[in-house]
Amino acid sequence: MMKHLSLDRRIQSLFPVALASLLVLGTVRLVLDNLKSDHSQIFRLYGWPRGEKHRLPIVLSPKDRIEERCNVFEGKWVWDNVSYPLYTEESCPFLVKQVTCHRNGRPDSFYKNWRWQPNGCNLPRFDPLKLLQILRGKRLMFVGDSVQRAQFESMVCLVQSVIPEGKKSLRRVPPKKIFKAEEYDVSIEYYWAPFIVESNSDHATNHTVLKRSVKLDSIAKHGKEWEGVDVLVFESYVWWMYKPLINATYGSPYNVKEYNLTTAYRLALETWANWIDSKINPHNQKVFFMSMSPTHLWSWEWKPGSDGNCFSESDPIQGPYWGTGSSLKIMDIVHDILQQLKVNVTLMNITQLSEFRKDAHTSIYGERKGKLLTKEQRSDPKKFADCIHWCLPGVPDTWNEILYAYLLKNYHGFL
Ligand SMILES: *[C@@H]1O[C@H](CO)[C@@H](O)[C@H](O)[C@H]1NC(C)=O
Ligand SMILES: *[C@@H]1O[C@H](CO)[C@@H](O)[C@H](O)[C@H]1NC(C)=O
Ligand SMILES: *[C@@H]1O[C@H](CO)[C@@H](O)[C@H](O)[C@H]1NC(C)=O
Ligand SMILES: *[C@@H]1O[C@H](CO)[C@@H](O)[C@H](O)[C@H]1NC(C)=O
Ligand SMILES: *[C@@H]1O[C@H](CO)[C@@H](O)[C@H](O)[C@H]1NC(C)=O
Ligand SMILES: *[C@@H]1O[C@H](CO)[C@@H](O)[C@H](O)[C@H]1NC(C)=O
Repeated sequence: MMKHLSLDRRIQSLFPVALASLLVLGTVRLVLDNLKSDHSQIFRLYGWPRGEKHRLPIVLSPKDRIEERCNVFEGKWVWDNVSYPLYTEESCPFLVKQVTCHRNGRPDSFYKNWRWQPNGCNLPRFDPLKLLQILRGKRLMFVGDSVQRAQFESMVCLVQSVIPEGKKSLRRVPPKKIFKAEEYDVSIEYYWAPFIVESNSDHATNHTVLKRSVKLDSIAKHGKEWEGVDVLVFESYVWWMYKPLINATYGSPYNVKEYNLTTAYRLALETWANWIDSKINPHNQKVFFMSMSPTHLWSWEWKPGSDGNCFSESDPIQGPYWGTGSSLKIMDIVHDILQQLKVNVTLMNITQLSEFRKDAHTSIYGERKGKLLTKEQRSDPKKFADCIHWCLPGVPDTWNEILYAYLLKNYHGFL
Protein backbone atom coordinates (compact mmCIF):
# COMPACT_ATOMS: atom_id res chain seq x y z
CA MET A 1 0.00 0.00 0.00
CA MET A 2 2.71 2.45 1.02
CA LYS A 3 4.66 1.47 -2.06
CA HIS A 4 1.75 2.38 -4.27
CA LEU A 5 1.34 5.71 -2.61
CA SER A 6 4.93 6.66 -3.18
CA LEU A 7 4.74 5.57 -6.82
CA ASP A 8 1.67 7.72 -7.19
CA ARG A 9 3.53 10.71 -5.88
CA ARG A 10 6.35 10.15 -8.30
CA ILE A 11 3.98 10.04 -11.24
CA GLN A 12 2.18 13.10 -10.27
CA SER A 13 5.34 15.06 -9.95
CA LEU A 14 6.69 13.75 -13.25
CA PHE A 15 3.62 14.41 -15.30
CA PRO A 16 4.25 18.14 -15.53
CA VAL A 17 7.60 17.55 -17.20
CA ALA A 18 6.04 15.54 -19.95
CA LEU A 19 2.93 17.64 -20.17
CA ALA A 20 4.31 21.13 -20.27
CA SER A 21 5.66 20.67 -23.79
CA LEU A 22 2.71 18.73 -25.07
CA LEU A 23 0.12 21.10 -23.85
CA VAL A 24 1.92 24.00 -25.42
CA LEU A 25 2.03 21.98 -28.59
CA GLY A 26 -1.71 21.52 -28.40
CA THR A 27 -2.16 25.23 -28.06
CA VAL A 28 -0.13 26.04 -31.10
CA ARG A 29 -1.93 23.43 -33.11
CA LEU A 30 -5.23 25.06 -32.30
CA VAL A 31 -3.90 28.49 -33.11
CA LEU A 32 -2.95 27.20 -36.53
CA ASP A 33 -6.28 25.49 -36.91
CA ASN A 34 -8.03 28.71 -36.13
CA LEU A 35 -6.07 30.70 -38.66
CA LYS A 36 -6.82 28.19 -41.35
CA SER A 37 -10.50 27.98 -40.55
CA ASP A 38 -13.15 29.43 -42.76
CA HIS A 39 -15.94 30.75 -40.63
CA SER A 40 -18.38 30.98 -43.48
CA GLN A 41 -18.31 27.20 -43.57
CA ILE A 42 -20.11 26.97 -40.27
CA PHE A 43 -23.39 27.65 -42.00
CA ARG A 44 -22.90 24.65 -44.18
CA LEU A 45 -22.80 22.53 -41.07
CA TYR A 46 -26.47 23.15 -40.59
CA GLY A 47 -29.04 22.60 -43.25
CA TRP A 48 -27.15 20.11 -45.37
CA PRO A 49 -29.50 17.91 -47.32
CA ARG A 50 -30.29 14.46 -46.02
CA GLY A 51 -29.41 12.67 -49.25
CA GLU A 52 -30.97 9.36 -50.19
CA LYS A 53 -28.17 8.38 -52.56
CA HIS A 54 -26.08 5.29 -52.03
CA ARG A 55 -28.81 3.68 -50.03
CA LEU A 56 -27.93 0.03 -50.11
CA PRO A 57 -29.23 -2.59 -47.76
CA ILE A 58 -26.77 -3.22 -44.95
CA VAL A 59 -25.73 -6.83 -44.95
CA LEU A 60 -24.14 -8.00 -41.73
CA SER A 61 -22.58 -11.43 -41.67
CA PRO A 62 -22.10 -13.49 -38.51
CA LYS A 63 -18.46 -12.41 -38.60
CA ASP A 64 -19.55 -8.81 -38.16
CA ARG A 65 -21.11 -9.46 -34.78
CA ILE A 66 -18.86 -9.94 -31.80
CA GLU A 67 -20.34 -12.44 -29.41
CA GLU A 68 -22.13 -11.16 -26.35
CA ARG A 69 -19.77 -12.96 -23.98
CA CYS A 70 -16.53 -11.96 -25.66
CA ASN A 71 -14.46 -9.30 -23.89
CA VAL A 72 -12.73 -7.71 -26.85
CA PHE A 73 -10.42 -5.76 -24.54
CA GLU A 74 -8.66 -8.93 -23.38
CA GLY A 75 -6.21 -10.43 -25.78
CA LYS A 76 -2.82 -9.91 -27.36
CA TRP A 77 -1.07 -8.13 -30.20
CA VAL A 78 -0.14 -10.41 -33.06
CA TRP A 79 2.23 -9.64 -35.90
CA ASP A 80 0.26 -9.13 -39.11
CA ASN A 81 2.10 -7.33 -41.88
CA VAL A 82 -0.36 -8.70 -44.44
CA SER A 83 -3.54 -6.88 -43.43
CA TYR A 84 -2.02 -4.05 -41.38
CA PRO A 85 -1.80 -1.09 -41.47
CA LEU A 86 -5.37 -0.44 -42.63
CA TYR A 87 -4.26 2.73 -44.43
CA THR A 88 -0.97 4.51 -45.04
CA GLU A 89 0.34 7.98 -44.34
CA GLU A 90 0.38 8.58 -48.09
CA SER A 91 -3.18 7.40 -48.69
CA CYS A 92 -4.72 9.67 -46.07
CA PRO A 93 -4.41 13.37 -46.87
CA PHE A 94 -6.12 14.35 -43.61
CA LEU A 95 -3.38 13.33 -41.18
CA VAL A 96 -1.66 16.19 -39.38
CA LYS A 97 2.11 16.27 -39.16
CA GLN A 98 1.99 15.55 -35.45
CA VAL A 99 1.15 11.87 -36.03
CA THR A 100 2.92 10.91 -39.26
CA CYS A 101 5.91 9.39 -37.49
CA HIS A 102 7.27 7.57 -40.51
CA ARG A 103 7.26 10.63 -42.72
CA ASN A 104 8.78 12.57 -39.85
CA GLY A 105 11.78 10.29 -39.86
CA ARG A 106 10.95 7.31 -37.70
CA PRO A 107 13.29 4.61 -39.05
CA ASP A 108 11.28 1.48 -38.20
CA SER A 109 7.73 0.72 -39.29
CA PHE A 110 7.00 -2.36 -37.19
CA TYR A 111 4.60 -0.37 -35.03
CA LYS A 112 2.13 -0.31 -37.93
CA ASN A 113 1.93 -4.07 -38.33
CA TRP A 114 0.32 -5.30 -35.14
CA ARG A 115 -3.23 -6.54 -34.98
CA TRP A 116 -5.24 -6.73 -31.76
CA GLN A 117 -6.47 -10.27 -31.24
CA PRO A 118 -9.09 -10.67 -28.50
CA ASN A 119 -8.87 -13.95 -26.59
CA GLY A 120 -12.40 -15.14 -27.06
CA CYS A 121 -13.33 -13.99 -30.58
CA ASN A 122 -12.20 -12.07 -33.66
CA LEU A 123 -12.83 -8.43 -34.32
CA PRO A 124 -14.82 -7.89 -37.49
CA ARG A 125 -12.74 -6.67 -40.41
CA PHE A 126 -13.13 -2.91 -40.64
CA ASP A 127 -15.31 -2.13 -43.65
CA PRO A 128 -15.61 1.61 -44.31
CA LEU A 129 -18.63 1.19 -46.57
CA LYS A 130 -20.52 -0.66 -43.89
CA LEU A 131 -19.70 2.00 -41.34
CA LEU A 132 -20.80 4.79 -43.67
CA GLN A 133 -24.05 2.97 -44.33
CA ILE A 134 -24.70 2.50 -40.65
CA LEU A 135 -23.94 6.14 -39.98
CA ARG A 136 -25.97 7.40 -42.94
CA GLY A 137 -27.54 10.76 -42.17
CA LYS A 138 -25.84 10.83 -38.78
CA ARG A 139 -23.17 12.62 -36.80
CA LEU A 140 -20.40 10.85 -34.95
CA MET A 141 -18.50 13.13 -32.58
CA PHE A 142 -15.34 12.62 -30.57
CA VAL A 143 -15.05 14.89 -27.52
CA GLY A 144 -11.87 15.33 -25.52
CA ASP A 145 -8.22 16.34 -25.69
CA SER A 146 -5.47 15.81 -28.25
CA VAL A 147 -5.38 12.05 -27.68
CA GLN A 148 -9.02 11.99 -28.68
CA ARG A 149 -8.23 14.15 -31.68
CA ALA A 150 -5.94 11.39 -32.93
CA GLN A 151 -8.79 8.92 -32.65
CA PHE A 152 -10.91 11.27 -34.72
CA GLU A 153 -8.17 11.51 -37.34
CA SER A 154 -7.75 7.78 -37.37
CA MET A 155 -11.48 7.35 -38.01
CA VAL A 156 -11.36 9.85 -40.86
CA CYS A 157 -8.46 7.94 -42.42
CA LEU A 158 -10.20 4.61 -41.95
CA VAL A 159 -13.28 5.71 -43.90
CA GLN A 160 -12.03 8.32 -46.36
CA SER A 161 -10.44 5.92 -48.86
CA VAL A 162 -13.82 4.74 -50.15
CA ILE A 163 -15.12 8.26 -50.76
CA PRO A 164 -14.29 9.81 -54.13
CA GLU A 165 -12.48 13.12 -54.43
CA GLY A 166 -14.81 16.07 -54.14
CA LYS A 167 -17.33 14.16 -52.05
CA LYS A 168 -15.42 14.53 -48.82
CA SER A 169 -14.15 17.50 -46.87
CA LEU A 170 -12.46 18.39 -43.61
CA ARG A 171 -13.20 21.79 -42.08
CA ARG A 172 -11.85 23.47 -39.03
CA VAL A 173 -14.41 25.37 -37.02
CA PRO A 174 -12.61 25.80 -33.68
CA PRO A 175 -13.06 24.18 -31.27
CA LYS A 176 -14.39 21.66 -33.78
CA LYS A 177 -13.11 19.75 -36.77
CA ILE A 178 -15.71 18.38 -39.13
CA PHE A 179 -15.25 15.68 -41.73
CA LYS A 180 -18.11 15.17 -44.16
CA ALA A 181 -18.89 12.26 -46.42
CA GLU A 182 -21.37 13.96 -48.72
CA GLU A 183 -22.98 11.02 -50.46
CA TYR A 184 -23.76 9.34 -47.18
CA ASP A 185 -24.68 12.52 -45.37
CA VAL A 186 -22.30 11.41 -42.63
CA SER A 187 -20.45 13.83 -40.43
CA ILE A 188 -17.47 12.74 -38.31
CA GLU A 189 -16.51 15.46 -35.87
CA TYR A 190 -14.07 16.38 -33.17
CA TYR A 191 -14.78 18.77 -30.32
CA TRP A 192 -11.95 20.14 -28.16
CA ALA A 193 -12.86 19.91 -24.45
CA PRO A 194 -9.81 18.65 -22.55
CA PHE A 195 -11.71 18.38 -19.24
CA ILE A 196 -15.12 17.56 -20.81
CA VAL A 197 -16.59 20.15 -18.40
CA GLU A 198 -15.80 23.81 -18.95
CA SER A 199 -12.38 25.20 -18.06
CA ASN A 200 -10.08 28.07 -18.86
CA SER A 201 -8.36 25.78 -21.37
CA ASP A 202 -11.34 25.58 -23.69
CA HIS A 203 -10.61 28.52 -25.91
CA ALA A 204 -8.98 27.41 -29.12
CA THR A 205 -6.41 30.16 -29.25
CA ASN A 206 -6.19 31.92 -25.93
CA HIS A 207 -6.00 29.58 -23.02
CA THR A 208 -3.61 29.34 -20.16
CA VAL A 209 -1.82 26.04 -20.08
CA LEU A 210 -0.13 26.17 -16.72
CA LYS A 211 -2.70 28.12 -14.75
CA ARG A 212 -5.51 25.77 -15.52
CA SER A 213 -8.79 26.10 -13.69
CA VAL A 214 -11.74 23.79 -14.18
CA LYS A 215 -15.42 24.62 -13.72
CA LEU A 216 -16.50 21.34 -12.22
CA ASP A 217 -20.22 22.07 -12.35
CA SER A 218 -20.41 23.76 -15.76
CA ILE A 219 -21.01 21.93 -19.00
CA ALA A 220 -23.86 23.81 -20.71
CA LYS A 221 -21.67 25.74 -23.11
CA HIS A 222 -20.10 22.58 -24.50
CA GLY A 223 -23.29 20.59 -24.15
CA LYS A 224 -25.15 22.85 -26.57
CA GLU A 225 -22.76 21.67 -29.28
CA TRP A 226 -23.25 17.99 -28.44
CA GLU A 227 -27.04 17.98 -28.33
CA GLY A 228 -28.66 15.76 -30.90
CA VAL A 229 -25.39 14.14 -32.02
CA ASP A 230 -26.16 10.51 -32.86
CA VAL A 231 -22.96 8.89 -31.59
CA LEU A 232 -20.85 10.62 -28.94
CA VAL A 233 -17.43 9.37 -27.84
CA PHE A 234 -15.96 11.04 -24.75
CA GLU A 235 -12.46 11.00 -23.29
CA SER A 236 -10.61 13.02 -20.64
CA TYR A 237 -7.62 12.08 -18.56
CA VAL A 238 -4.18 13.48 -19.10
CA TRP A 239 -5.02 17.14 -18.52
CA TRP A 240 -6.12 16.25 -15.01
CA MET A 241 -2.83 14.57 -14.18
CA TYR A 242 -0.76 17.68 -13.79
CA LYS A 243 -0.49 17.88 -10.03
CA PRO A 244 -2.17 16.03 -7.14
CA LEU A 245 -4.29 19.15 -6.67
CA ILE A 246 -6.12 21.16 -9.27
CA ASN A 247 -7.64 24.62 -9.16
CA ALA A 248 -11.36 24.48 -9.74
CA THR A 249 -14.70 26.09 -9.01
CA TYR A 250 -17.88 24.44 -7.88
CA GLY A 251 -20.92 26.54 -7.11
CA SER A 252 -19.69 30.10 -7.19
CA PRO A 253 -17.68 30.73 -10.36
CA TYR A 254 -15.52 33.21 -8.44
CA ASN A 255 -14.50 30.91 -5.63
CA VAL A 256 -11.42 29.14 -7.04
CA LYS A 257 -10.14 26.44 -4.68
CA GLU A 258 -7.58 23.67 -4.86
CA TYR A 259 -9.30 20.31 -5.14
CA ASN A 260 -7.87 16.88 -4.66
CA LEU A 261 -7.51 15.57 -8.20
CA THR A 262 -9.70 12.51 -7.70
CA THR A 263 -12.41 14.56 -6.02
CA ALA A 264 -12.35 17.04 -8.88
CA TYR A 265 -12.49 14.29 -11.51
CA ARG A 266 -15.48 12.71 -9.81
CA LEU A 267 -17.36 16.00 -9.54
CA ALA A 268 -16.69 16.75 -13.20
CA LEU A 269 -17.91 13.34 -14.32
CA GLU A 270 -21.03 13.74 -12.19
CA THR A 271 -21.74 16.98 -14.00
CA TRP A 272 -21.23 15.13 -17.27
CA ALA A 273 -23.46 12.25 -16.10
CA ASN A 274 -26.29 14.65 -15.29
CA TRP A 275 -25.99 16.11 -18.75
CA ILE A 276 -26.09 12.64 -20.30
CA ASP A 277 -29.13 11.57 -18.32
CA SER A 278 -31.05 14.72 -19.13
CA LYS A 279 -30.10 15.22 -22.78
CA ILE A 280 -29.51 11.80 -24.32
CA ASN A 281 -32.33 9.82 -25.83
CA PRO A 282 -31.11 6.22 -25.58
CA HIS A 283 -33.48 5.14 -28.34
CA ASN A 284 -31.69 7.02 -31.05
CA GLN A 285 -28.38 8.14 -29.59
CA LYS A 286 -25.36 6.16 -28.48
CA VAL A 287 -22.68 7.24 -26.03
CA PHE A 288 -19.21 5.79 -25.52
CA PHE A 289 -16.56 6.65 -22.94
CA MET A 290 -12.90 5.91 -23.66
CA SER A 291 -10.88 4.75 -20.68
CA MET A 292 -7.53 6.47 -20.18
CA SER A 293 -4.89 6.29 -22.87
CA PRO A 294 -1.72 5.05 -21.18
CA THR A 295 1.61 6.86 -21.23
CA HIS A 296 5.09 5.33 -21.38
CA LEU A 297 7.18 7.97 -19.68
CA TRP A 298 9.43 5.74 -17.58
CA SER A 299 11.12 2.71 -19.11
CA TRP A 300 12.08 1.32 -15.71
CA GLU A 301 8.48 0.23 -15.40
CA TRP A 302 8.81 -2.39 -18.14
CA LYS A 303 12.61 -2.68 -18.25
CA PRO A 304 13.83 -2.66 -14.65
CA GLY A 305 17.09 -0.81 -14.22
CA SER A 306 16.71 1.35 -17.33
CA ASP A 307 16.28 5.09 -17.20
CA GLY A 308 14.63 6.12 -20.44
CA ASN A 309 11.13 6.44 -21.83
CA CYS A 310 9.27 5.21 -24.93
CA PHE A 311 12.04 6.42 -27.24
CA SER A 312 13.50 3.74 -29.54
CA GLU A 313 11.12 1.06 -28.32
CA SER A 314 10.17 -1.09 -31.30
CA ASP A 315 8.12 -3.98 -29.90
CA PRO A 316 4.99 -4.29 -27.80
CA ILE A 317 5.35 -5.46 -24.21
CA GLN A 318 4.67 -9.18 -23.89
CA GLY A 319 2.85 -10.54 -20.90
CA PRO A 320 1.07 -8.74 -18.09
CA TYR A 321 1.81 -5.05 -17.71
CA TRP A 322 0.07 -2.02 -16.26
CA GLY A 323 1.97 1.26 -15.99
CA THR A 324 1.57 3.40 -12.90
CA GLY A 325 0.66 6.34 -15.14
CA SER A 326 -2.80 4.82 -15.56
CA SER A 327 -4.52 5.69 -12.32
CA LEU A 328 -6.73 2.91 -11.01
CA LYS A 329 -8.45 5.45 -8.78
CA ILE A 330 -9.58 7.35 -11.83
CA MET A 331 -10.61 4.07 -13.43
CA ASP A 332 -12.78 3.30 -10.40
CA ILE A 333 -14.41 6.71 -10.59
CA VAL A 334 -15.28 6.15 -14.24
CA HIS A 335 -16.70 2.76 -13.33
CA ASP A 336 -18.86 4.20 -10.51
CA ILE A 337 -20.22 7.04 -12.58
CA LEU A 338 -21.12 4.84 -15.53
CA GLN A 339 -22.88 2.42 -13.17
CA GLN A 340 -25.05 5.19 -11.78
CA LEU A 341 -26.16 6.48 -15.17
CA LYS A 342 -29.70 5.83 -16.35
CA VAL A 343 -28.54 5.98 -19.96
CA ASN A 344 -26.42 3.09 -21.19
CA VAL A 345 -22.93 4.42 -21.84
CA THR A 346 -20.47 1.89 -23.21
CA LEU A 347 -17.03 1.96 -21.62
CA MET A 348 -14.33 1.37 -24.20
CA ASN A 349 -11.75 -0.07 -21.83
CA ILE A 350 -8.75 0.38 -24.12
CA THR A 351 -6.20 1.06 -21.39
CA GLN A 352 -4.84 -2.45 -20.99
CA LEU A 353 -4.47 -3.19 -24.68
CA SER A 354 -2.72 0.14 -25.21
CA GLU A 355 -0.48 -0.40 -22.18
CA PHE A 356 1.38 -3.05 -24.17
CA ARG A 357 2.27 -0.56 -26.92
CA LYS A 358 5.32 1.20 -25.58
CA ASP A 359 6.54 1.12 -29.19
CA ALA A 360 3.72 3.12 -30.69
CA HIS A 361 4.11 6.67 -29.37
CA THR A 362 5.22 9.60 -31.48
CA SER A 363 8.39 9.85 -29.38
CA ILE A 364 10.80 12.24 -31.12
CA TYR A 365 8.96 11.94 -34.44
CA GLY A 366 6.12 14.26 -33.55
CA GLU A 367 5.85 17.98 -33.16
CA ARG A 368 6.63 20.45 -30.45
CA LYS A 369 5.23 23.96 -30.48
CA GLY A 370 3.75 23.25 -33.90
CA LYS A 371 7.07 22.27 -35.46
CA LEU A 372 8.88 18.99 -35.93
CA LEU A 373 11.65 18.56 -33.42
CA THR A 374 15.00 20.03 -34.34
CA LYS A 375 18.09 17.88 -34.67
CA GLU A 376 19.28 19.07 -31.27
CA GLN A 377 15.97 18.23 -29.65
CA ARG A 378 15.95 14.80 -31.26
CA SER A 379 19.34 14.10 -29.80
CA ASP A 380 17.85 14.51 -26.33
CA PRO A 381 14.96 12.03 -26.27
CA LYS A 382 14.90 11.92 -22.49
CA LYS A 383 13.70 15.46 -22.52
CA PHE A 384 11.86 15.70 -25.82
CA ALA A 385 10.26 12.33 -26.60
CA ASP A 386 6.47 12.47 -26.55
CA CYS A 387 5.31 9.29 -24.85
CA ILE A 388 1.68 10.35 -24.56
CA HIS A 389 0.51 10.74 -28.15
CA TRP A 390 0.41 7.92 -30.71
CA CYS A 391 1.66 7.55 -34.27
CA LEU A 392 -0.87 7.01 -37.04
CA PRO A 393 -1.48 4.52 -38.49
CA GLY A 394 -1.31 2.91 -35.07
CA VAL A 395 -3.02 2.20 -31.79
CA PRO A 396 -6.00 4.60 -32.18
CA ASP A 397 -6.96 2.60 -35.29
CA THR A 398 -7.54 -0.37 -33.01
CA TRP A 399 -9.72 1.72 -30.70
CA ASN A 400 -11.79 2.57 -33.77
CA GLU A 401 -11.96 -1.03 -34.92
CA ILE A 402 -13.46 -1.84 -31.55
CA LEU A 403 -15.83 1.13 -31.73
CA TYR A 404 -16.85 -0.15 -35.15
CA ALA A 405 -17.45 -3.61 -33.70
CA TYR A 406 -19.73 -2.12 -31.05
CA LEU A 407 -21.66 -0.09 -33.59
CA LEU A 408 -22.22 -3.24 -35.64
CA LYS A 409 -23.09 -5.28 -32.58
CA ASN A 410 -25.80 -2.88 -31.52
CA TYR A 411 -27.07 -2.19 -35.00
CA HIS A 412 -30.81 -2.70 -35.07
CA GLY A 413 -31.73 -0.26 -37.78
CA PHE A 414 -31.48 2.97 -35.82
CA LEU A 415 -27.84 2.52 -35.01
C1 LIG B 1 6.27 -9.83 -43.02
O1 LIG B 1 6.83 -10.37 -41.85
C2 LIG B 1 7.54 -11.58 -42.08
C3 LIG B 1 7.91 -12.15 -40.73
O2 LIG B 1 8.60 -11.20 -39.97
C4 LIG B 1 8.73 -11.28 -42.98
O3 LIG B 1 9.44 -12.46 -43.23
C5 LIG B 1 8.24 -10.69 -44.28
O4 LIG B 1 9.33 -10.29 -45.08
C6 LIG B 1 7.35 -9.47 -44.03
N1 LIG B 1 6.75 -9.06 -45.27
C7 LIG B 1 6.71 -7.79 -45.62
C8 LIG B 1 6.00 -7.48 -46.89
O5 LIG B 1 7.21 -6.90 -44.94
C1 LIG C 1 -6.77 36.12 -23.42
O1 LIG C 1 -7.45 35.79 -22.23
C2 LIG C 1 -7.14 36.65 -21.15
C3 LIG C 1 -7.81 36.09 -19.90
O2 LIG C 1 -9.07 35.60 -20.17
C4 LIG C 1 -7.60 38.07 -21.48
O3 LIG C 1 -7.28 38.95 -20.41
C5 LIG C 1 -6.90 38.54 -22.75
O4 LIG C 1 -7.39 39.80 -23.14
C6 LIG C 1 -7.12 37.54 -23.89
N1 LIG C 1 -6.29 37.89 -25.02
C7 LIG C 1 -6.76 37.95 -26.27
C8 LIG C 1 -5.78 38.31 -27.32
O5 LIG C 1 -7.93 37.73 -26.53
C1 LIG D 1 -4.01 27.54 -7.77
O1 LIG D 1 -3.99 28.93 -8.04
C2 LIG D 1 -3.16 29.66 -7.16
C3 LIG D 1 -3.33 31.14 -7.47
O2 LIG D 1 -3.13 31.38 -8.84
C4 LIG D 1 -1.73 29.20 -7.29
O3 LIG D 1 -0.90 29.87 -6.41
C5 LIG D 1 -1.66 27.69 -7.01
O4 LIG D 1 -0.36 27.19 -7.25
C6 LIG D 1 -2.64 26.94 -7.92
N1 LIG D 1 -2.68 25.54 -7.55
C7 LIG D 1 -2.45 24.55 -8.40
C8 LIG D 1 -2.60 23.17 -7.87
O5 LIG D 1 -2.17 24.74 -9.56
C1 LIG E 1 -7.90 12.53 -2.46
O1 LIG E 1 -9.13 12.19 -1.86
C2 LIG E 1 -9.37 10.81 -1.75
C3 LIG E 1 -10.76 10.62 -1.21
O2 LIG E 1 -11.06 11.57 -0.23
C4 LIG E 1 -8.30 10.17 -0.88
O3 LIG E 1 -8.50 8.78 -0.84
C5 LIG E 1 -6.95 10.46 -1.47
O4 LIG E 1 -5.94 9.96 -0.64
C6 LIG E 1 -6.77 11.94 -1.67
N1 LIG E 1 -5.52 12.15 -2.36
C7 LIG E 1 -4.67 13.11 -2.03
C8 LIG E 1 -3.45 13.20 -2.87
O5 LIG E 1 -4.86 13.88 -1.10
C1 LIG F 1 -10.69 -1.91 -17.44
O1 LIG F 1 -9.84 -3.02 -17.60
C2 LIG F 1 -8.86 -3.16 -16.58
C3 LIG F 1 -7.99 -4.35 -16.87
O2 LIG F 1 -7.88 -4.59 -18.19
C4 LIG F 1 -9.52 -3.35 -15.23
O3 LIG F 1 -8.55 -3.38 -14.23
C5 LIG F 1 -10.45 -2.17 -14.99
O4 LIG F 1 -11.17 -2.39 -13.80
C6 LIG F 1 -11.44 -2.01 -16.13
N1 LIG F 1 -12.21 -0.80 -15.89
C7 LIG F 1 -13.51 -0.77 -15.68
C8 LIG F 1 -14.10 0.55 -15.37
O5 LIG F 1 -14.21 -1.75 -15.77
C1 LIG G 1 -25.86 -1.54 -22.78
O1 LIG G 1 -24.80 -1.59 -23.72
C2 LIG G 1 -24.10 -2.80 -23.70
C3 LIG G 1 -22.91 -2.66 -24.61
O2 LIG G 1 -23.27 -2.15 -25.83
C4 LIG G 1 -25.02 -3.91 -24.09
O3 LIG G 1 -24.32 -5.12 -24.08
C5 LIG G 1 -26.18 -3.97 -23.12
O4 LIG G 1 -27.11 -4.94 -23.51
C6 LIG G 1 -26.89 -2.63 -23.03
N1 LIG G 1 -27.85 -2.65 -21.95
C7 LIG G 1 -29.07 -2.11 -22.05
C8 LIG G 1 -29.93 -2.18 -20.84
O5 LIG G 1 -29.46 -1.59 -23.08
